[in-house]
Amino acid sequence: MKILVTGGAGYIGSHLVDRLLERGDEVYVLDNLSTGKIVNVEHHLDNPRFHFINDTVLNEPLVEDLVKECALIYHLAAAVGVKFVVEDPLRAVLTNVKGTEIVLHYAYKYWRKIVLASTSEIYGKATKIPFEEEDDRVLGTTEVHRWSYSTSKAIDEHLAFAYHDKGLPIVILRYFNSYGPRLDEKGYGSVIANFIRQAMRGEPITVHGDGRQTRCFTYIDDTVQGTLLAAEVKAGEGMVFNIGTTMETSILELAGTIKALLASPSNVAFVPYEAYYGRGFEDTRRRVPSIERARKILGYEPKVGLEEGLKKTIEWCREHY
Ligand SMILES: NC(=O)c1ccc[n+]([C@@H]2O[C@H](COP(=O)([O-])OP(=O)(O)OC[C@H]3O[C@@H](n4cnc5c(N)ncnc54)[C@H](O)[C@@H]3O)[C@@H](O)[C@H]2O)c1
Repeated sequence: MKILVTGGAGYIGSHLVDRLLERGDEVYVLDNLSTGKIVNVEHHLDNPRFHFINDTVLNEPLVEDLVKECALIYHLAAAVGVKFVVEDPLRAVLTNVKGTEIVLHYAYKYWRKIVLASTSEIYGKATKIPFEEEDDRVLGTTEVHRWSYSTSKAIDEHLAFAYHDKGLPIVILRYFNSYGPRLDEKGYGSVIANFIRQAMRGEPITVHGDGRQTRCFTYIDDTVQGTLLAAEVKAGEGMVFNIGTTMETSILELAGTIKALLASPSNVAFVPYEAYYGRGFEDTRRRVPSIERARKILGYEPKVGLEEGLKKTIEWCREHY
């Protein structure tokens, strides 16, 4: 099958591309390399079933050509990462809203199934644990840029549902903190990347706030598995799914585990949020998905435990950081 992966040179996208090529698909990657890297896909450059286009999803005629060519679209291109969004909120909102609008418009025109990457940030600072897909979103004021990422992805979801009302087969995935090889220290999973780099160098491991905030760190194979299932399972069309593990880990525990796995002499240093994100930053204390819907409808089951995933990630980091 010919498949378009926007953002396919990024962290999640490039792993998805590996799997699609492995199983024999022909893959078109559209990526402007803003946070993605050519090194993530360069092992495919000689493969005649792989096509890389260094351009933006905001280039309408190009998106039209690619969507027309392909039978299935994974739309992952986005301005990603809370820190980037805080630093350049305009780019984030425009890429995430306009880019998705363009891709959906042509998916509708040529009637192509589309899987959209959304985020656990959608839930904002909701306190009802675990997060279920139909739960209310709880966000801060629009004066705090941090919330624009969540809001831009929510508009993407609304757009996708609106096209689904017109019959277009869409599936939305809310990823929860993915990590693994190719993790960009500046990107989404930066806490794991940062901790590994700091622990490898024996530098202080910098924990924001009190370190008791928790996340459900999901190994990349489990993220990709959910993404592949979303396209394969027809019953999932028109729905949104949480994709992640339900194993909750505090940032302090994470620091301790990484330190132990690397037998690192590093100490933990507590840093106020403001020092990194600027004033007015609000964090989410706990972020835990309910994956019952993904289990039941997609047959999704995350398999990789934190230590196992961290070991594989550390192995990669030793060679690349
Ligand atoms: N990694 C996670 O834990 C996580 C969690 C929630 C949601 N997501 C979502 O998953 C998707 C992939 O994220 P990722 O973690 O792989 O991040 P990433 O930054 O590695 O991937 C995003 C890719 O999109 C590309 N891109 C950005 N703007 C573009 C544009 N205008 N045109 C073409 N390409 C563009 C970037 O160059 C990059 O390769 C994103 O939509 C993100 O919002 C990721």
